[in-house]
Amino acid sequence: MKTQVAIIGGGPSGLLLSQLLHVRGIDSIVLERKTKDYVLGRIRAGVLERGLVGLMEEAGCADRMHAEGFPHDGTLVSYGDEMFRVDFTKHAGEHVMIYGQTEVTRDLYDAREKANGLIEFNVENVVIHDADSDSPHLTYNVDGDARRIDCDFVAGCDGFHGVSRQTIPLDVRKEYEKLYPFGWLGILSETPPVNHELIYANSERGFALCSMRNDKLSRYYIQCSLSDSPDDWTDEAFWAELKRRLPKEQADSLVTGPSIEKSIAPLRSFVTEPMRWGRLFLCGDAAHIVPPTGAKGLNTAASDVHYLYNGLRDYYENGSEAGIDGYSEKALARVWKAERFSWWFSSLMHRYPDQSEFDIKMQVAELEFLRSSDAAQKAMAENYVGLPY
Ligand code: APR
Ligand code: PHB
Repeated sequence: MKTQVAIIGGGPSGLLLSQLLHVRGIDSIVLERKTKDYVLGRIRAGVLERGLVGLMEEAGCADRMHAEGFPHDGTLVSYGDEMFRVDFTKHAGEHVMIYGQTEVTRDLYDAREKANGLIEFNVENVVIHDADSDSPHLTYNVDGDARRIDCDFVAGCDGFHGVSRQTIPLDVRKEYEKLYPFGWLGILSETPPVNHELIYANSERGFALCSMRNDKLSRYYIQCSLSDSPDDWTDEAFWAELKRRLPKEQADSLVTGPSIEKSIAPLRSFVTEPMRWGRLFLCGDAAHIVPPTGAKGLNTAASDVHYLYNGLRDYYENGSEAGIDGYSEKALARVWKAERFSWWFSSLMHRYPDQSEFDIKMQVAELEFLRSSDAAQKAMAENYVGLPY
């Protein structure tokens, strides 16, 4: 088989890229190692930057998001019993869209299927050949059959554990990583959110986050030990701990209920450079990971897709290689800013095992400064709603 762009990975990055290319008449095929239901079963953050909303509109996939998503003009930040609001619209002139990543992925799958897009599921043993040549190809297996795809370009949208990043020789790529000494225990519950906007909570017992998927489906997180497992936490224990970490008014008004999903995610900052090697381009989690504190994972994947999609358009429509040649530098410039914001917000809001009393005083001083300074709130708001592409 031959295509213009072979895309490895049927998560948000791969699907968004495939759909955008389709809109411009550029052929692609998506290879996904899991099933569609498995991909859609992943629970992920649901805060969309304006840039991602725009890409979904450009891809023709934004109708349900606009119908069912919730614009949020700000967020609450609490520390102990204190709480203040950062107004995104006032400080950055933008809002964010609350719409689950699962729904983004579902809308993209629906669009690809409606367009008869080529997606292969349950693929195995994907190998990228001759990525550093002008005629790369992929080999892989489906149901035991050996397959080959010849292509012009390969988009590695296969996430942190994929094959694409590993294809770039070790002497070409450099990796940067920071592991955080805690995880996030998250639950989904069919309960009304404690507040109509998110609450990021710094407490002496650790971080907590109150989020939602809609007005009947809440998403809550508490910082937990890396040695914890979800089975260590009954629903009752989770709710009791969450309440201890919120200001009294919110703790008292919290509506609890049975968890319909409970999981623990470790936190990591990671970047690989470069994000291109020959005709192979890395997008999204294949190239970088952020701690979820700033909700930048999906949104930074989206900016990668924006740069790569426009570079490929320029190549096919104008015969120019400027966009693809500039891809890695452009994408990384924004990736590192997202990494910084996610690291900064994580450092501000969590309790670290090695923190001294002085360190905790520094956190409180920065929270008090953020509370009182328009300049500080503008900086946070600009990063949270999404820096320009
Ligand atoms: N062959 C084919 N598919 C693969 C392979 C492989 N060797 N390895 C991984 N995949 C698939 C995974 O099954 C997954 O569906 O690639 C997809 C990668 O999707 P994500 O991990 O969701 O990464 P991405 O599309 O970049 O989206 C980033 O998703 O994980 C969240 O926090 C992350 O919000 C961010 C967003
Ligand atoms: C979520 O709703 O899952 C969510 C929201 C904001 C974050 C992280 C996760 O920063």
